[in-house]
Amino acid sequence: MAVAEQVPAGARVADVGTDHAMVPVWLVQSGRADSVLATDIRSGPLQSAAALVEKTGTGGHIRLMQTDGLAGIGPADADTIILAGMGGETMLAILSAAPWTKRDTLLILQPQSKRAALRRWLTDNGYLIEAERLVEDAGRVYPIMRVRGGVSPAYTAAELRLGRLDQIGTDPLFARYLNAAWASAAKAAPYDGEAAALLGEYDEIKRRLDHADGRGDI
Ligand SMILES: C[S@@+](CC[C@H](N)C(=O)[O-])C[C@H]1O[C@@H](n2cnc3c(N)ncnc32)[C@H](O)[C@@H]1O
Repeated sequence: MAVAEQVPAGARVADVGTDHAMVPVWLVQSGRADSVLATDIRSGPLQSAAALVEKTGTGGHIRLMQTDGLAGIGPADADTIILAGMGGETMLAILSAAPWTKRDTLLILQPQSKRAALRRWLTDNGYLIEAERLVEDAGRVYPIMRVRGGVSPAYTAAELRLGRLDQIGTDPLFARYLNAAWASAAKAAPYDGEAAALLGEYDEIKRRLDHADGRGDI
């Protein structure tokens, strides 16, 4: 439950795109949150969510709602919003329709794809990625971001894809994450100038990390 573990104790949480409501149920059962709004755009996932809520007896703490993104939801409903397991472009579309999330709201984001587009949009649109960490799920490595409204520093092209090195460069999973990005850029580099430039940045990151901690070839 790496995503749920990012939620501060006592938070009022909205889990957007909840699917089976596993995160809300964990939050309530662990005592981390007393009330959770669990939403999904589709009725099928909400039926699964309702079944799990009933089975676990958590109905007094979890409210289910069918809606697109944050439509119909405001700061009175939640101070912590989870968007996990969706593509980065879906997430940025949801957030761009809810600018209130820049004020007094913690966003916990776990994008499955299009992470560079999401980081670029966040940093260009008044959000600050306060922290990132990496988690492994089914053999793949994903970032989890903690985001609030704020002014962001500039990101390099590699940082837009990977995250800021001062935030994830020492993560135990970073070497694997970087190697996967490096392999994908190396494949495309012969016929794609952008990938070739990225490859150069990744090589430089590898050199810097090798030099900094003597980890050898990562
Ligand atoms: C792969 S599941 C992820 C479930 C859970 N959040 C997790 O991380 O395990 C993605 C869920 O997001 C929902 N979803 C996709 N777009 C959405 C939107 N615009 N608003 C709300 N839910 C959405 C889908 O219906 C699906 O149930």
